[in-house]
Amino acid sequence: METSYWSPVVRLLTPYVPGEQPKLSNLVKLNTNENPYGPSPRVLEAIQAELSDALRLYPDPNAERLKQAIADYYGVTPTQVFVGNGSDEVLAHVFHALFQHPAPLLFPDITYSFYPVYCGLYGIDFVTVPLADDFTLNVADYLRPNGGIIFANPNAPTGRLLPLADIDWLLQRNRDSVVVVDEAYIDFGGDTAIALVDRHPNLLITQTLSKSRSLAGLRVGLAVGPPELIEALERVKNSFNSYPLDRLAIAGAVAAFADRGHFERTRQAVIASREQLSAALAELGFEVLPSAANFVFARHPQRDAAGLAGSLREHHVIVRHFRQPRIDQFLRITVGGPEQNAALIAALGQIVAER
Ligand SMILES: Cc1ncc(COP(=O)(O)O)c(C=O)c1O
Repeated sequence: METSYWSPVVRLLTPYVPGEQPKLSNLVKLNTNENPYGPSPRVLEAIQAELSDALRLYPDPNAERLKQAIADYYGVTPTQVFVGNGSDEVLAHVFHALFQHPAPLLFPDITYSFYPVYCGLYGIDFVTVPLADDFTLNVADYLRPNGGIIFANPNAPTGRLLPLADIDWLLQRNRDSVVVVDEAYIDFGGDTAIALVDRHPNLLITQTLSKSRSLAGLRVGLAVGPPELIEALERVKNSFNSYPLDRLAIAGAVAAFADRGHFERTRQAVIASREQLSAALAELGFEVLPSAANFVFARHPQRDAAGLAGSLREHHVIVRHFRQPRIDQFLRITVGGPEQNAALIAALGQIVAER
């Protein structure tokens, strides 16, 4: 209930609503793009080892071990790395530190729905740029005055991938503002734009350990970019929370980057399942967008998407449906393990056959 105690800005906020985290354990949960395979056993060991009397001490405010591990992994320096409590927090600092300019921020009309929420929180003016009819992003549409550009690659919730050459093309022509590439899903099908960082002083990449490293519950995100942009993020972070990553998160995240074998095996398993799932959905008459992520975006020409999501729930399967223009006939379905995908396809087969 709103009260006069609220700051004026709070009244105007439209907070983000994350996908449901149901209390029931018997549901097939394909609604928030979690990884079905679980984190590396080495991550769990590292977290166990951290459970000691040392928890009475604050963690390293700079998470230097983790920054070094990420720098080694990507072949950059620790001064080019920022870490935070999930990439959502990293993104919040990006909006605050780099996008609060007089000219509007640009992002696609169909993308991660947290972007306009951050704009509301930080009073950032924005303009959405329509994706093409097939939901591809045309970088030439972003050549206009702006106070920053952000897009997810692969995009969410479409799963579509923008080639690295297009990002390079845009950066060569957009030099006066920061371009942020949100690579939450990049490990499932694309090349990271981190390769371009040394050539562009205005490029920042954000990533997360929630998806391809199966650590959504640990809350670790990162950004890679030129030291000047990283310093801007550090300034905001150190004006907000000195210790966004706790001791367990730092230890677990370091171990996640060390276990390349687990990462590679589970990543390939998700990619293979995605292709099988897309084919099975197509068999049932769905139109499935080509996905480079750990989810697929699909619509059925004869079935209403909200109705399908409701019927799936009755079959104990939850997927994500967005009540938003242009995509309200689509379902976003997380790629699960073989059993989850089979349960989804069996339920959809029954639902589509009814009537
Ligand atoms: C495009 C995109 N960016 C960022 C995030 C945030 O991920 P996290 O805060 O778990 O790192 C998500 C989560 O679903 C996402 O879809």
